[in-house]
Amino acid sequence: MREGGVTPAAIDVFTHYYGELEAGATGLIREDTIEPLTDPDHLADVDVDEDAAREALAKTAIIKLNGGLGTSMGMDRAKSLLPVRGDSTFLDLIAGQVRTAREATGARLPLVLMNSFRTQEDSLAALAKHPDIAIEGLPLDFLQNREPKLRVDDLTPVEWPADPSLEWCPPGHGDIYTALLASGVLERLLDAGFRYASASNSDNLGAVPSARIAGWFAASGAPYAAELCHRTAADRKGGHLAVRKSDGQLILRDTAQTAPEEMHYFTDEHHHPFFHTNNLWWDLEKLHAALTERGAVLGLPLIRNTKTVDPTDPSSPEVYQVESAMGAAIEVFEGATAIVVGRDRFLPVKTTNDLLTLRSDAYRLDEDGALRLDVDAAPLVDLDSRFYKTMTGFDARFPAGAPSLRAAQSLTVKGDWTFGADVVVTGNASLEDADVPGTVADGVTLEG
Ligand code: UTP
Repeated sequence: MREGGVTPAAIDVFTHYYGELEAGATGLIREDTIEPLTDPDHLADVDVDEDAAREALAKTAIIKLNGGLGTSMGMDRAKSLLPVRGDSTFLDLIAGQVRTAREATGARLPLVLMNSFRTQEDSLAALAKHPDIAIEGLPLDFLQNREPKLRVDDLTPVEWPADPSLEWCPPGHGDIYTALLASGVLERLLDAGFRYASASNSDNLGAVPSARIAGWFAASGAPYAAELCHRTAADRKGGHLAVRKSDGQLILRDTAQTAPEEMHYFTDEHHHPFFHTNNLWWDLEKLHAALTERGAVLGLPLIRNTKTVDPTDPSSPEVYQVESAMGAAIEVFEGATAIVVGRDRFLPVKTTNDLLTLRSDAYRLDEDGALRLDVDAAPLVDLDSRFYKTMTGFDARFPAGAPSLRAAQSLTVKGDWTFGADVVVTGNASLEDADVPGTVADGVTLEG
């Protein structure tokens, strides 16, 4: 039952985190309390029986996290509605990936979105353009909860009469466990014969349905598995798993849980060699048993995110958003495990820099619907955040789409430049701040 759009279980979870926040919790995980994880399984090295893999995929549901608001890109709706290839959006491409995998493997592969109050309507309308994707008797989405944003100065719910809907936020993707159970979707999937789920961010077009991982996961007998990737020197994002010294438990540490003075450990690819992709696998029977046994408050570590109440207005009051991360549940499930996968399964879009790269010819759209790197290394794009950080600023400055980045190692833009059509970037190119808006004319090659 819902009160004002929130389930009683979600109120219990929020109360738990509020108590922690009030007690002064910051959610930080100190480096001296953990050991690096150094020896997980590698997908490339494990033996997976092909028939068993097919069988496991046939019992797998695909869940996409779609409740976030893309505030880092100045958005207040689902990032997955942005076009990535021509007019095709993340959601269109995800529908294509599921369709292709169904055709190739015969698996039913239900697609289920986790939406929030801000993303549900638009996203379901967009999916309606793919009527073949819905499976009779199963929902296309479930709704996550919402919670009040809290004033940083006194921890009271913020008031914002200019747009009261901005007084609320989704409680992070850790809410998926509360929402899957309370919505009844977990039971519906089990009743329909699904045993496993593959969950990933809707902004990660690399996380295509995988029979091989499904087969490995089913054979592992684990209740829960996280996909990891090798960290390179260029990787600054993605949390990492670590072993907690006090009890040997695998845990997840995210950026928001790392003290600024300890960030160098977090990003050191030799010290913490793998990062967490947020692609997870669950055994739904074991998930159901654990969630019903433990109750709504899983006790996932608190993430205290500081934002402004209106994400597009930096002068609006500062608020805390009390969140938890889906991948933090690794510490709750006994026997949870992890596997190192290829880099192609991790293609997150967190900033407009990522989006420009993905829209460019450095990536190709493969037959299975995955976007894959078409050059040896992804170019490093660094756009001036004063002009390109929000989608509005970004779109206005790339009216003809992304330049060619195939031959670029990096593109650094300082200042306010608008790009014409058919611009080609090569080597390590940069544009300097001219203090006045400038134009890169049609057909120009920016040489590094
Ligand atoms: P991010 O951590 O990138 O968050 O989410 P975001 O909301 O998209 O972006 P910012 O922080 O506001 O800029 C990773 C994935 O988790 C989903 C997002 O939709 C994205 O696919 N998500 C995030 C949820 O489903 N619910 C949430 O409460 C938060």
